[in-house]
Order: sequence, then structure tokens, then C-alpha cells
Amino acid sequence: MNYFIHTYGCQMNVHDSEKIAGILEEMGYVVCDSVEKADIAVFNTCCIRETAEKKIYGHLGAIKKLKRQNPRLITVVCGCMSQQEGVAEKIKTSYPFVDVVLGTGNLNLLKQAVLDAQKKKKFCNVDFLRYREEDFLQARTSYPNAWVNINYGCNNFCTYCIVPYVRGRERSRPLTDVMAEVEKLLADGYKEITLLGQNVNSYGHDLDGNVSFATLLNEIGKLSGKFRLRFMTSHPKDLSEDVIDAIAAYPNVCNNIHLPVQSGSTEILRKMNRRYTRDDYFALIDRIRAKLPDVGITTDIMVGFPEETEQDFEDTLDLVRHVKFSSAFCFVYSRRKGTPAYSMEQIPYEVKKERITRLIACQNEVTKQISQTMLKKVYEVLVEGENFRYDQTMCGRTESGRLVNFKCDPSLIGQFVNVKIDRATSATLWGSIVTEDK
Ligand code: 5AD
Ligand code: SF4
Repeated sequence: MNYFIHTYGCQMNVHDSEKIAGILEEMGYVVCDSVEKADIAVFNTCCIRETAEKKIYGHLGAIKKLKRQNPRLITVVCGCMSQQEGVAEKIKTSYPFVDVVLGTGNLNLLKQAVLDAQKKKKFCNVDFLRYREEDFLQARTSYPNAWVNINYGCNNFCTYCIVPYVRGRERSRPLTDVMAEVEKLLADGYKEITLLGQNVNSYGHDLDGNVSFATLLNEIGKLSGKFRLRFMTSHPKDLSEDVIDAIAAYPNVCNNIHLPVQSGSTEILRKMNRRYTRDDYFALIDRIRAKLPDVGITTDIMVGFPEETEQDFEDTLDLVRHVKFSSAFCFVYSRRKGTPAYSMEQIPYEVKKERITRLIACQNEVTKQISQTMLKKVYEVLVEGENFRYDQTMCGRTESGRLVNFKCDPSLIGQFVNVKIDRATSATLWGSIVTEDK
């Protein structure tokens, strides 16, 4: 019996798919490489932007034909989209061949859902239940990296964002649970741990005792052995001095912060309910760089938020030129039903399109400049895997998070090597392994 999981969206979903895989493997299913060969097809969905949603409905439509060819095929829709208001109903009426609909907070019901589906009984539950990671196995797929959830959900309600509605309120995992998972992963040979949360910096506020995100970084930083600790995502309003100090204090905690700015205009930030100003963001960057001169700061930026003027957008470009992010995920604002920004005055599509092109060009220029400063220098890189876009090429990241391509034997996956940067083609770095130290 084969399973195939189609994962859409962010790392949170990638990691949820590892949990789904763990549950299915425990039930005797074996992973396969295409939906056509599957006995169970899982769609772990995303609804952050309309483009993701459209793609998923397209893929779901195609399943109808497969189901005709293989009536035993079980179809599962889970993840963020299934949690949106009205979507479970829509699937029931418009996609009746879907057997299971599950929400984001009740993956622990998957086993029962599949058993029901095997008996041709439909299963639909999108309640927010609480499950413990410890309640089921995980089939990890990203060695030498391992994802570890530290908190779920979000309380911030940025006015454009659907996440608080589909992932629920913030819940932190107990410190002892997180520590036990991290220690086990390191004992099992994982070389990079990435802590996951919608807002990692607010970790612990709902736990007993004086536990904060900095506490967690200190506890993990103190563990022995060579490994890397990364985390995402940080909200600028919550990134404390203690966290910056912990990154500075422990060599295992990477000099790398993902710090979404969203906009460079104070007025737009206010309308987005981000709770910081442009100046606050600049001041935070200065404080970070004062203590972490080699830090790599990455970000998310959105263009075309309702009422964004040309001047607001110019402020974003100006911020991008000054902050010098090592990379930026640039998005066109997408109108999400149920969010406050849905009823604000929208920007025409042509304007959004023109702005995203200019923003990407601006960030590419910055990335290129940073890449040039890295030429001929040696960086420690964790060999992560093959870069299948190129022949016999491996890739890995520097501590600051820059991806580097280089030639080496696949047996080195999971090892730290020193790589000298030979060439930079805009965002892509090419290097070769050297024996000299950085
Ligand atoms: N439209 C476009 N981008 C969005 N993001 C969140 N909501 C939306 C939306 N409605 C982006 C933000 C966030 C990232 C994960 O996705 O930049 O940081
Ligand atoms: Fe969405 Fe804002 Fe929460 Fe991030 S912090 S998940 S953008 S509401």
C-alpha cells in the first residue's frame, strides 16, 4: 500500500507532512513518488495567498479521474485550507470524491480517519484539538536538518493574514518536551535543528515558570557537540535583547535571523497592525548588527497592500537598499476573505505587478553586492544534499544562511566542510571545498 503527500506552503506544513508520513508508515503504508501509484493521496494545503488555493483546487480536480481508475484510492485534504470557514462544506459538495477532511489541530485523528475511509466511510473534522508531538512518530525527510515545533498558532492578527484564523491561538510546547526532542535528534545524528513557530519570539508566555524564547536558545546552545540551531519566524516587535545575546553567546546558534518587515512605510505598517514603525525596524537592525556583525538577515516583504501609495512603496525600496537583507521573499498582497484588509480599498493588479518587479530587481541588486563581498573567502558549510538542477552538484548553507553550490561526494552529506567562494551569479554562490580554515 503506497502513500503520496502533496505539500503546499511553508516549513510548518513540510514538518506536518513528516508527521502525516509517520502516522501512515506506522499503519503499513510505504512512500511512493507519484500520485498515480498511490493508494492514499494526501493534500496538505496552504491558503496564505489565492495562488496557492487555485493550484490546490486544480490538483484536486485532477484526482477525480484517478479515483475512477482506482476506486480504492483514498483522498485526504488537510492543512490550512481545510480549516478556512466554509471550505469543508465546499469540498463536500464540489469534490465529493474526497474521503477525509482534517484541520490543522487534529492530525492525531488521521489514523482513525484512514481506517474509516478504508471502510468507505467519510471522515470530516476541523475542530481545534490539542495533540502532543510525542503522541506519534515522525518520518523525517530533511536530514541533516530536523524541524522542531516550539509553538503553534498566532495571536498577532496582522490585518492581511489568514494564519490566526486557520492555525488558532498561540500555544507553546513545554520546554521539557522540546528539549527531549532536540536531544534525541542530536543523538540520532541530525546536524541542524530548525525551531518552528509562527512567532518564535513569543515562545513561553503561556507556560508556567519564567520561560522565554531566550531560555530555550540558552538551553539548546549549552548542549555539547557540533550542530547548528536555526529558528523561524521572528516578529520584529518581539525580538528581545536576550535573544540577540544568546545568538552571540553560543557558536551553535546560527548568526541568521528571518525578520519579516512586510513594508518600509510606517503608515502601511500601522494599517497592517504590525505594531512597529519604520524607525523601530531600523533601530532593531542596528542593535542586532552591533552585537552580531556577521549576521545574515532575511525577510518577507509584501507589495500592493490596500491603500499603498507610490510613496509608501518607495519607502519600502529605500528600506531594502539600506538594510541589505541577504535575501527577501517578495509577495504580492493577496486578498483573504475574513481578514480586516479584505474590506479596505484594493490596489489595481497592474500596479501590484509593476511594484513586485521593481522590488525583486532592487533586492537582486543588494544580494549581488553581498555575494561580491563573499568572493575568495572561506565559509563553513553544512553539506545538505544534492542540487538536482545541476550535474553532480551538492549544496549547503553558510552559518548566515546563504546557499552555496559545490562539487563533492554525496557521502559528505551531514558533514561540515570549508568552502571557498569562487563565483557568484547574482543570488547563487559557487565554491569549492578547501582544507584551509575560515
Ligand atoms: N498576501 C500576500 N502575502 C501574505 N503573507 C501573509 N499573508 C499574505 C497575504 N494575504 C506573507 C507575509 C508573511 C509570509 C509568510 O507570507 O509576508 O510573512
Ligand atoms: Fe500572519 Fe502576522 Fe501571525 Fe505572521 S505574525 S502568522 S503575518 S498574523
